Amino acid sequence: MTRETIAFIGGGNMATSLIAGLIADGHEPRALIVSDPDGVKREALVERFGVKTTEDNSTAVNDAGLAVLCVKPQMAGPVCRGLSAAVGRQKPLIVSVMAGIREQSIQQWLGGEVPLVRAMPNTPVMIQSGAIVLHATPEASPDQRDRAETLLRAGGLTRWVEREEEMDAVTALSGSGPAYFFLLMEILEQAGAELGLDSESARLLTIQTALGAARMAMESSDSPRELRERVTSPGGTTERALDVLEAGGIRELVTRAVSAARTRSEELSKLLAETP
Ligand SMILES: NC(=O)c1ccc[n+]([C@@H]2O[C@H](COP(=O)([O-])OP(=O)(O)OC[C@H]3O[C@@H](n4cnc5c(N)ncnc54)[C@H](OP(=O)(O)O)[C@@H]3O)[C@@H](O)[C@H]2O)c1
Repeated sequence: MTRETIAFIGGGNMATSLIAGLIADGHEPRALIVSDPDGVKREALVERFGVKTTEDNSTAVNDAGLAVLCVKPQMAGPVCRGLSAAVGRQKPLIVSVMAGIREQSIQQWLGGEVPLVRAMPNTPVMIQSGAIVLHATPEASPDQRDRAETLLRAGGLTRWVEREEEMDAVTALSGSGPAYFFLLMEILEQAGAELGLDSESARLLTIQTALGAARMAMESSDSPRELRERVTSPGGTTERALDVLEAGGIRELVTRAVSAARTRSEELSKLLAETP
């Protein structure tokens, strides 16, 4: 990892998670600078990580080779416009983790076709187990793409998409995805309790089963389908349960849910693009 100064604009949850990952990877804390209007948040970041902080976004960018936009999407326009002079002078690589904000809007607000990587992380980034999807504008060089990816790998697994439009599908799959798995866990835990297990056992067995299944799927060269077929003996208990799920239309239901999330992501992106 290079030791260039990285500026974080907005010192909330996402910035904190990425900073935690970078420092765990051995990044020099004094080569990280965070700007945030909230003095209490800045103080907490200094205390926890030993990073530099400032209340002024442009000051953060002044010496930075890379600037990560970590403010809420609703703040994107004013924050980017406020940074345009500093970005024009310093020409850092811009990385945006702001959900739903299109590259064209960010470039327009920043005042030109700056090299930009847009990323869509999900919440497990907070424990360095996120799924982070990236897309680069043509202005970003291969070296800049590598630098953005190295930064974001601090939050988990990274993947590139070819077309920015794919970000809506990514939002529907991995962005909203943790909630789908939480829902399934919630239902399984409840079902276990209704079958007479004590609630703590139902909770722990559900979570450990989810973790074990995810790790097997990640570590095995077999597909989830093959793994499922291997644990489904003809005439057994798993087959009986899966028959109920298939008869209830689980495939169609989940496909419809993910498709609805993608449609909503497109709608929100459009709305945010129209926000001044
Ligand atoms: N959290 C996730 O899992 C997740 C997943 C995917 C994408 N994202 C994206 O990541 C971005 C940040 O999300 P988050 O969860 O980290 O939000 P957050 O915790 O609210 O962090 C945003 C930070 O920006 C600060 N801020 C407000 N106005 C500012 C300004 N003018 N200049 C500089 N900083 C300012 C906020 O301070 P105040 O609190 O004082 O306003 C807050 O500390 C969002 O765009 C979101 O779409 C987050």
